[in-house]
Amino acid sequence: MKILFLGDIVGNSGCLAVKNNLQNIKKEKNIDFVIVNGENAAKEGVGITENITNELFSSGVDVITTGNHVWDQKETYDFIAKENRLLRPLNLLNDAPGKGFHIYNSTKGFKIGVLNLMGNIFMKKCKDVFEVAKKFLDENKLKDSYDFLIVDFHGEITSEKMAMGHYFDGNATLFVGTHTHVPTNDGRVLEKGTAYLTDAGMCGDYNSVIGMNTQNSLNKFLKNNSLKHFPAEGKASLSGVIVEAKQDNGLANKVDSFIFGGDLKNIN
Ligand SMILES: [Fe+2]
Repeated sequence: MKILFLGDIVGNSGCLAVKNNLQNIKKEKNIDFVIVNGENAAKEGVGITENITNELFSSGVDVITTGNHVWDQKETYDFIAKENRLLRPLNLLNDAPGKGFHIYNSTKGFKIGVLNLMGNIFMKKCKDVFEVAKKFLDENKLKDSYDFLIVDFHGEITSEKMAMGHYFDGNATLFVGTHTHVPTNDGRVLEKGTAYLTDAGMCGDYNSVIGMNTQNSLNKFLKNNSLKHFPAEGKASLSGVIVEAKQDNGLANKVDSFIFGGDLKNIN
């Protein structure tokens, strides 16, 4: 089983790169299941719309995760309840529509659990993520509840992500961080068999400040006249991770970072 996880899709440029390339990538790399974080996919670079959600599914995406920007497009609050393939963090503070965890059937007949969590440090206030994770792991078991489990941990700081990665070790197929929009180079299989990557990076224009227009971001830092943040519109790189998982125990055999196109392609 080969699963591709792509980091935060940012704006039109990120969406276009997914639409134009994902089907070919799936064929070339023999990918069975695709998860993307889509919380910055709207043209403003925050939130996701119903149209974009459907376009991503038509492009070959199986599940979309989100994070702190999940409600930034008002319509999401309505359509997420009827769309199981779009997740929001499980540990949101207040009752909210939609789900933070769901089990999907792959084309090969496997059950794939996808869990979306949000960190507590430097993020919007949400329930204690370690308490929520403990409850989740008490109630769900790999190869019992599902054949494979993918965890998207949407968080700002590396230590919180790494600690949670170890907490899931042996209980998830892949634990991957999102939100910083900067890919890390620490992909590895942990001691008990869970593939781990601190951050998947973004699918967006890297000639930017985390996907947003460079000059406008600089103006904000320099306290010059600046507009509301808006995405950079150059060619996007797709950035994420591919995990090869074992069917007998649902754990990882191999994990490779994945970078395609745009400014980042030169690092491979
Ligand atoms: Fe985020």
